[in-house]
Amino acid sequence: MVMTLSREGELIPTTQRNIIPKERYVSQEFFDLEMERLWPRVWQMACREEEVPKVGDFLEYIIGDQSILVTRSDPETIRAFYNTCPHRGTRLAAGVGNFATGEIRCRYHAWRFELDGTNKEVVDRFDFPESMTDAEVCLGQIKVGRWGGFVFINMDPDSESLESFLGPLPAMLAPYGFEKMRYRSYRTVIIPANWKSALDAFNEGYHVQGTHPQLLRWTDDTTMAYGPLGKHNHMGGEGKVKHEMRPSPRLGLRPGDYDERELLAVMIDELGGLFLKEERQKVLDLKNNPLPEGKTAMDAYNDIRVQMLRGKGIDLGDLTDEQLLMSDDVHFFPNVVGPIYPGSTTLFRTRPNGLDPHSAIKDLWTLEWVAPDEDRQMCERKFYPDWAAKDWGLVTNQDYANMAHVQAGMRSRGCTGLRLNPRQEHNVIHMHEVIDDYLCS
Ligand code: FES
Ligand SMILES: [Fe+2]
Repeated sequence: MVMTLSREGELIPTTQRNIIPKERYVSQEFFDLEMERLWPRVWQMACREEEVPKVGDFLEYIIGDQSILVTRSDPETIRAFYNTCPHRGTRLAAGVGNFATGEIRCRYHAWRFELDGTNKEVVDRFDFPESMTDAEVCLGQIKVGRWGGFVFINMDPDSESLESFLGPLPAMLAPYGFEKMRYRSYRTVIIPANWKSALDAFNEGYHVQGTHPQLLRWTDDTTMAYGPLGKHNHMGGEGKVKHEMRPSPRLGLRPGDYDERELLAVMIDELGGLFLKEERQKVLDLKNNPLPEGKTAMDAYNDIRVQMLRGKGIDLGDLTDEQLLMSDDVHFFPNVVGPIYPGSTTLFRTRPNGLDPHSAIKDLWTLEWVAPDEDRQMCERKFYPDWAAKDWGLVTNQDYANMAHVQAGMRSRGCTGLRLNPRQEHNVIHMHEVIDDYLCS
């Protein structure tokens, strides 16, 4: 059972597993508990290694009202510090950049620090009490862990290791070669909803029939599988290559009622940005020409995908053609979710926007494999304070358009809790249970 807040502000269990108290999304008290017991103790994806490629590069990772400085202190080492000067607390750096002088200098009274966080100079140290130790005047270190090209941070010195936290993910995701991926795009929007509302919308397929009815023409949304992966979650097919494309049984169509090639073209059209340009064109060619002998449209499409990946000059290791056709949707607890394909992934990371339970920062990362000889530079990070100012494609527009309504509706005095579908919204329930492991320990 997930926990709810009693009138006295104590955490008490609910009585039914699928009923999620709305306070978990709308109350300042619950939000504050997360700020105190979840975020300071959980491993968080702060950035990718490629965002701090050179010694002295830094990036400010913000979570709620906390700012953390991630910096490459030597070619092999990435460190993280609380972004605060041990003199009078001044924030040491903002945004992204490079400590070009090879040191971190506080703008206020010019205390200086090595890139490894040790203190280099306390100006006029002779005026300070002799009892002031070097340890007191260095930067506060935060634990860093690295996996798959991602840089994780954890503010809790006593936390479990990153390896233990990730559990089954590294072994399961190894074929996708995250370490070979680089950013294709990095966009950030502000969503007028709790960070969990913004995440949940991508952690279940139950809403497809309600929010994206156009997708039912080529998606069988009823057979999606959901389940836990340690603290994390999985959704998607059962790990088998699809040989046919079929519409949702909700539409009541029979095989003779539709042309698979048409469905493929519709899919490519609708998922637009998720596909490469060449891939789109090849599927259109497929649609307009007779199918190869003995192949279904899905098989022919699978051949195109394999050919494209094999033709890119990228080392695909020992991946079989079958593995090249797989995909997985993974929720990396607590706040990253998205579909993963061999060669590319689109991940969504949501975070509280400051200390407001009703606002979230959402990053959209598209990553893709690059050839070993390609010197891919970090892409431009684009920021959209108003998500509606840009056309994100129909599906994403539909998801975003829901969010303010979800958040506002939960705040209604008439909202008595969220009644989740135990199977199709399993991942959301499980996320709440794992949040409670942090809040209650
Ligand atoms: S606040 Fe940083 S040197 Fe004074
Ligand atoms: Fe959606």
